[in-house]
Amino acid sequence: MASFGPLSALVALLLSSSTQVLAQSCACGYKDSNGQVWREAIVSDFTQASGALAAVDADWIVAADLQEQPTGISIQYATANVLEHQDALGLKASAYDNSGSVKSVVFGETILRLCLTEASNIHVGFFTYFSDTQEQDIEFLSSDSDYYQHLYYTNQPGQLPNSDPDPDAAKLVANRRSYRTFGVHRFDWLPTKTVYSYAGSNNGAPITSTTTITKNVPTSSAEFVLNVWSNGDPLFSKGPPTADAIATVHYVHLYFNSTTFSAGSFNTACSAAGSIAPCSV
Ligand SMILES: *[C@@H]1O[C@H](CO)[C@@H](O)[C@H](O)[C@H]1NC(C)=O
Repeated sequence: MASFGPLSALVALLLSSSTQVLAQSCACGYKDSNGQVWREAIVSDFTQASGALAAVDADWIVAADLQEQPTGISIQYATANVLEHQDALGLKASAYDNSGSVKSVVFGETILRLCLTEASNIHVGFFTYFSDTQEQDIEFLSSDSDYYQHLYYTNQPGQLPNSDPDPDAAKLVANRRSYRTFGVHRFDWLPTKTVYSYAGSNNGAPITSTTTITKNVPTSSAEFVLNVWSNGDPLFSKGPPTADAIATVHYVHLYFNSTTFSAGSFNTACSAAGSIAPCSV
């Protein structure tokens, strides 16, 4: 049996299971820019006057578990690594202290505005997770020499049975963008496809990209997670980090249909409100 020590940089936030339905003013739901209507919303503004951590407390679970890794350097999710940073939310991967684990963070969402202020061999991910074969990921690796141009989009499993990458389930998108400036990352999880998109800029010129994956679209309900971590894997996250690295998040907007608010209950509430137009988001 291999022995694992913890690594020192990970933070984990999970969406709280008690979802908050913002139905009062949007009783007929939320219409997104692609024309989809959603019944429920969670909007976390980490730049609000009452502070990022108040928004975390309202809707998110901060993970504090230890995840053993085959690299021998574990991921220790640490509540202290979720912090107020530059008037927004900071998710920190701490410099490795040779204790055997990197303190890190997990979080979850659909549309979020984020940048990486310091790069140091870490992984930044935002994803939905139910199991290793029911998972949608947006990831980037600060250790990629051209990391500022790469986004990894994957509907897991991203590998074929022979371990080769599956080009239909895992896509590497390269744009001339920089994660050191803020950009908006988004994914739309629909029954037959996941549509991943990015909107940012490069020296003031707008950069947008959209990538659709129709393979391995999850069918199980899932949790939304945002995380920052490193496990020292020489082929992936690299590291462990020699300096603290912080991803800064301005907001997370989540629009969704859940079983806690059925279509029937939604229709009743919408009728009672006079069948008003959905809120445009
Ligand atoms: C979400 O719920 C709304 C209202 O019930 C429905 O119109 C819409 O089709 C649902 N979306 C999905 C992807 O199921």
